[in-house]
Amino acid sequence: MQNIRPSIADQDIVCDETAAPPTAMIVFGASGDLAKRKLFASLFQLSNRGLLSEHFYLLGAGRKKLSDQTFRQSAQQAIQERSDNLPSKEIEAFVSKLYYVSGDYGDISFYKNIKAKLIKLDKKYKIDSGDPASRESSHIFYLAVPPFLYITIAEQLGSVGLSCPRKPDSRQRPRLVVEKPFGRDLQSAADLNNKIHQCFDESQIYRIDHYLGKETVQNILMFRFANAIFEPVWNRNYIDHVQITIAESIGIEHRGSYYDKVGALRDMFQNHMLQMLALAAMEPPASFEADSIRDEKVKLLRSIRPFKLEPWSTSIVRGQYGPGVINGKEVAGYRSEPSVEPGSKTETFVAAKLFIDNWRWKDVPFYLRTGKRLVRKDTEVAIIFKKVPHSMFVSSGLAEAPRSGPPNVLVLQIQPEEGISLSFQAKRPGSKICMSTLNMDFNYRTVFGVDMPGAYQRLLLDCMVGDQTLFTRADDVKVTWQFLTPILQAWEGDDPAPYEYPAGSESFPAADRLIESDGRKWRKFSIIES
Ligand code: BG6
Repeated sequence: MQNIRPSIADQDIVCDETAAPPTAMIVFGASGDLAKRKLFASLFQLSNRGLLSEHFYLLGAGRKKLSDQTFRQSAQQAIQERSDNLPSKEIEAFVSKLYYVSGDYGDISFYKNIKAKLIKLDKKYKIDSGDPASRESSHIFYLAVPPFLYITIAEQLGSVGLSCPRKPDSRQRPRLVVEKPFGRDLQSAADLNNKIHQCFDESQIYRIDHYLGKETVQNILMFRFANAIFEPVWNRNYIDHVQITIAESIGIEHRGSYYDKVGALRDMFQNHMLQMLALAAMEPPASFEADSIRDEKVKLLRSIRPFKLEPWSTSIVRGQYGPGVINGKEVAGYRSEPSVEPGSKTETFVAAKLFIDNWRWKDVPFYLRTGKRLVRKDTEVAIIFKKVPHSMFVSSGLAEAPRSGPPNVLVLQIQPEEGISLSFQAKRPGSKICMSTLNMDFNYRTVFGVDMPGAYQRLLLDCMVGDQTLFTRADDVKVTWQFLTPILQAWEGDDPAPYEYPAGSESFPAADRLIESDGRKWRKFSIIES
């Protein structure tokens, strides 16, 4: 295949990046893995890009007893580990705004202590200056803790008055940030929502799905709705089917005890996969306002046809990796991973075929697959268009010549290489009838020459400025669990164990049958050349 390289015709037609207002971020679980892997480095990057207010501080809260000094040192180390070339003076200045308080999550005195610290620190950092002209500032409570603690922490914050605005007439409403998984099925997600809503209303809750913070996932909306030429063909008249893939080469790493209770359907499908599906298939929202977009997403998710209960294998199948080889290295099978039950039936791969019952998508299959320990990392949304209705280009020299070339395919490549690729047929110079498939590729890094800001930077900034567009709403969470709970129940019952696939493969026969029985094939994992 040949590549045609695009260039930027016009820069920054619309470019809007709002810096954060004065903010106090309180991170529960601040000595844990998520804070170290994502939060400190992302906040520092925001500060380095001039997007954090100078009136910013972070109060870490956790069970571990740490002094402010030790907490700062571990945050500094975590930031430096993310990149070699960060300016150490700036890192030191950033971590000097970090504080720590320890206590027991179930104990009210922990929260009273937090409240007392906040009063002092707010004053020091002029978080709430009382100036009516000052931009909205807020306390952001970030729950980087295991989900079973969400309700306890939300309730305790409520009981010491930290879920309410600091002044009765203030617009400065504290925010609560929660990570996935948000519930483990329909009932548990409803209970969680109800309990949290007793202390925080929906406008204060920011449920993170980090896929929505990825530049290329957001670009699905921009690509569809800022260009006039794609929308007219974005429907059942022109599209044969859609494939959405999130393939990972990593296994479950050190997360065996979490993952073995969760599995791929809860870990990836209920959230990341269905969010990408919603963005690729939803109707155009009236505006770029948070609720306008979220309304359309929920409407789309509600239109997904429930899976046919019997036989499952025609609509959804699950697999689990066995031992195999990745990048030339032997790797263990799932059931031999640390903290995984030896007889575990937890799935590490899910492939599904969905239909969306609405006017636009009637009878267009959406094939979705996600798995761990596959041959390589590849996340993409591929739109496979219908073939030409009649082809006049038939090679007379071939007895079994195809009557038409391959269909046009539009690939929105999310990672590891971020870009867009459109394939089409063109004449190759020379013989009378000689057709080649060409690729028109756009690669973010090549064209814009910058590294993508991490998803957490975007999400943290949006939370500080109070923009909920990229956060999942309660009704969104409900509808996705509603759709998946019957499958979870069947899998937890006496449904047969998942199919085993060797680590390092692309798929396995049952997943292939799901698409091949419709006369189609999974796409090979793609790499857009840079
Ligand atoms: C997380 C899942 O939400 O997403 C992990 O819990 C998964 O299991 C990760 O590895 C994938 O994220 P990314 O950004 O690397 O594609």
